[in-house]
Amino acid sequence: MPLFLPHFNIQKFNTLAVPAVANYFVSVQSDEDLREAIAFAKAEQLPLLVLGGGSNIVLRSDFPGLVLHMKTRGIDLVEESDEFVWLKVAAGENWHELVEYSLDNGFYGLENLSLIPGSVGAAPIQNIGAYGVELKDVFAELSALNIQSGLMVTFTNESCQFGYRDSIFKQSLKDQYIITSVTLKLRKVPELNLEYPALRAALIDIPEGEITAEQVSAAVIAIRQSKLPDPVQIPNVGSFFKNPIIPIGQFEHLKSSYPTIVSYPIDAQQVKLAAGWLIDQAGWRGREVNGVKVHQDQALVLTNPGKLEGKLILQLADSVVASVQEKFGVVLEMEPRVYP
Ligand code: EPU
Repeated sequence: MPLFLPHFNIQKFNTLAVPAVANYFVSVQSDEDLREAIAFAKAEQLPLLVLGGGSNIVLRSDFPGLVLHMKTRGIDLVEESDEFVWLKVAAGENWHELVEYSLDNGFYGLENLSLIPGSVGAAPIQNIGAYGVELKDVFAELSALNIQSGLMVTFTNESCQFGYRDSIFKQSLKDQYIITSVTLKLRKVPELNLEYPALRAALIDIPEGEITAEQVSAAVIAIRQSKLPDPVQIPNVGSFFKNPIIPIGQFEHLKSSYPTIVSYPIDAQQVKLAAGWLIDQAGWRGREVNGVKVHQDQALVLTNPGKLEGKLILQLADSVVASVQEKFGVVLEMEPRVYP
């Protein structure tokens, strides 16, 4: 039986370092622990909050329920072909440690996703992505427990309905499943993705044919460290807003007023804008309100240096959204999930 710790402060379990008390906290080390935790929550009629690395969540206030900290471990090679390996990874594994493990073992495809904070089980929920690669590009399937029925279900790449920072687990199936493992399909011979201009620029001294996956990983780590604050030193959850996707007509109109607007093409109808640029241009970069801040080096990141309450961060986020909407007519959507 796992230990159910009452009246537990989860400040150390969310990277924004928000102080919030959960009615109960339990560390889940096995599928058996998970089933017992769900049974406990049902018996006590407690809502559940599943935490991996706690790096994509904002706690609005105390959590009136049971927090499950996923700590299951294990990386298993479950299938192999001439070209690929399939790694089944327990939800509680740390994402970046998995990236390092894959490179150490000659399995490729995760190098652009180096240094993303958080756990493996959380990665599919928002389809983590960076430097031209998204989880969906290497994802084979996942196992998840249906909280209501207790059945273990397999989700294929298609059934996860992955989108930009999105999946079915943020939409119609929100809070209905607990992801227990993720199976990735990785290459035995690297096929590097150097599309992202800043990444190619960082590797400009090496001829394209000689670049290794390890060098890509090192370059991604260096770029991330140069603009994203380390959550251990300055509490944050990475990008606080999604890059908004707008109709091309609206984009052309904006571009005529703001010729330097930063955008990425999507298709013939839509364009993605750099939210960081919009927030910066609206005058927010480096600003502090009630002790919480818009990061000086990257306006897309909100930080909580004083380890203050989540509602202050959400208030700052609301002000940023309102001001970007007023200036550009674009509504920013938050990237992290908010609980309770
Ligand atoms: N910019 C500014 N001012 C700022 C911030 C950015 O002018 O304060 C400009 C930059 O100069 C650049 C553009 O905005 O031209 C975009 O900035 P950046 O290249 O830093 O990347 P991003 O679009 O802000 C996205 C992801 C990151 C991911 C990087 C690399 C989102 C919401 N964010 O950031 O993901 O690492 O691309 O692929 O899609 C995360 O999700 O937590 C995250 C860090």
